[in-house]
Amino acid sequence: MSFDLVLFGGTGDLAWRKLMPALFQAFRHGSLPAPGRIIGIARDDLSDEQYRALIRGRFDNVELAKRPSAEEFDRFAALLSFLRMDLSKPADYERLRQKLQERQADTVVMYLATAPGLFTTACEQLAAAGLNTPQTRLVLEKPLGHDLASNRAINEAVRRGFGEKQIFRIDHYLGKPSVQNLFALRFGNALFEPLWRRENIANIQITIAEDLGVEKRGAFYDSTGALRDMVQNHALQLLCALAMEPPINAHADAIRDEKLKVLRSLKPWTVQSLGQHAIRGQYTAGRVAGEAVRGYREEPGVAPDSQTETFVALRAEIANWRWAGVPFYIRTGKRLAARDAHIVVNFQPAPHAIYDVPMGAANKLVINLQPRDGLELHLMSQGQENRQAARTSTSVLTPVHLNLDFTQRFGAERVGAYERLLLDVIDGRLNLFVRSDEQEEAWRWVEPLLDYWRHDRNGLRPYAAGTWGPSASSAMIARDGFCWSEEC
Ligand code: BG6
Repeated sequence: MSFDLVLFGGTGDLAWRKLMPALFQAFRHGSLPAPGRIIGIARDDLSDEQYRALIRGRFDNVELAKRPSAEEFDRFAALLSFLRMDLSKPADYERLRQKLQERQADTVVMYLATAPGLFTTACEQLAAAGLNTPQTRLVLEKPLGHDLASNRAINEAVRRGFGEKQIFRIDHYLGKPSVQNLFALRFGNALFEPLWRRENIANIQITIAEDLGVEKRGAFYDSTGALRDMVQNHALQLLCALAMEPPINAHADAIRDEKLKVLRSLKPWTVQSLGQHAIRGQYTAGRVAGEAVRGYREEPGVAPDSQTETFVALRAEIANWRWAGVPFYIRTGKRLAARDAHIVVNFQPAPHAIYDVPMGAANKLVINLQPRDGLELHLMSQGQENRQAARTSTSVLTPVHLNLDFTQRFGAERVGAYERLLLDVIDGRLNLFVRSDEQEEAWRWVEPLLDYWRHDRNGLRPYAAGTWGPSASSAMIARDGFCWSEEC
């Protein structure tokens, strides 16, 4: 099957950090369909050769095992070409049309890895130039808007030129093997499903912690913040995967219909919950992995009096029969103590105690998403760790855990998120992409918070880089009688 991948933003950060390495991995492992062409688009004045050299140079930053040899790169580079375009000029789309007509590929992927401000123009111009043929698939990177209204405006503009089945909205978390495993855990196994409800589960915690700061994206991040950057998309998609009903099959719309129901069931914010169940913080100077790092307001591109949150902790509830009353805690932040994304499903304690168990001990399932990918099932056992304990009591239980390490089991060389998603686009599989109504519901839910935070000048709490965020985050969860995983 032949394909043309047109990469708008072909010299940009995403192209060289994520997309080119992912395309190269697919090429190296023979999973990229052939024959294929990758056409980089940007305003720069580059020849094909100069573009290839640019991409070649950028592979120097990729980890060694994923770097091409000279011979491999030459073979990969044969797929690459470059087209200079100004996305506001109709004549430039005509040149693109001519290039695509050189050979009629079975699939044409238009990947918009550009500033989101250009999405509407690019989609309108592509349609005007007749570049929205049935063979065309359109990929949109996040962020898709900065609130509900702007998200809708983009989606409406895009839908004027392209059918919903042609639109691939990326949330790269859905491409992660660990997140696909979460779906497999729930819907490929019968073991947990009967337990997966309010009667048995005390609370669920979703943590996406990053140790990195805002890197070179200070200006973008300062107008975005953690709620828009991570919660509206990645964290809510994880919440959907955890809380959705089993879909009737594995088709894209069956899955997306169920996720949508979860988003629609999220309890709306009230004056009280806005004040009590949403914590935001901003990092100050501190130490991460032994290195001194600067505070957020000292980062290049960030306003010295910035009110932007780099940390969020929320308490959400899903108002339906399965989940009524079960708190879902979400937290994410930059410059936290570690790069660590995981989910903890805390089960109810045993209903009647015949043993002595440590305070608050109960079963829990920990789903590790990254850096390692695995499952830990925490159980109580009569460990009798030593003879001393055996003499004093047989009724004291010790927590133990079953540990399944997918990285070790399947190897570190698993298909990465962008590789998986790019192959799915080329093959036309929509399962791991987000539908417009899901996106809108997610915006609808976060919007009251955005509004509230815009006016609430006192709620932004400082936290030292290298910690787990402001203490208010622990206080919020402690009010319910629970604690974050690293605290208990
Ligand atoms: C992106 C955010 O969507 O996800 C970044 O814009 C964030 O700010 C990144 O760093 C995290 O992705 P990952 O795959 O490194 O967890």
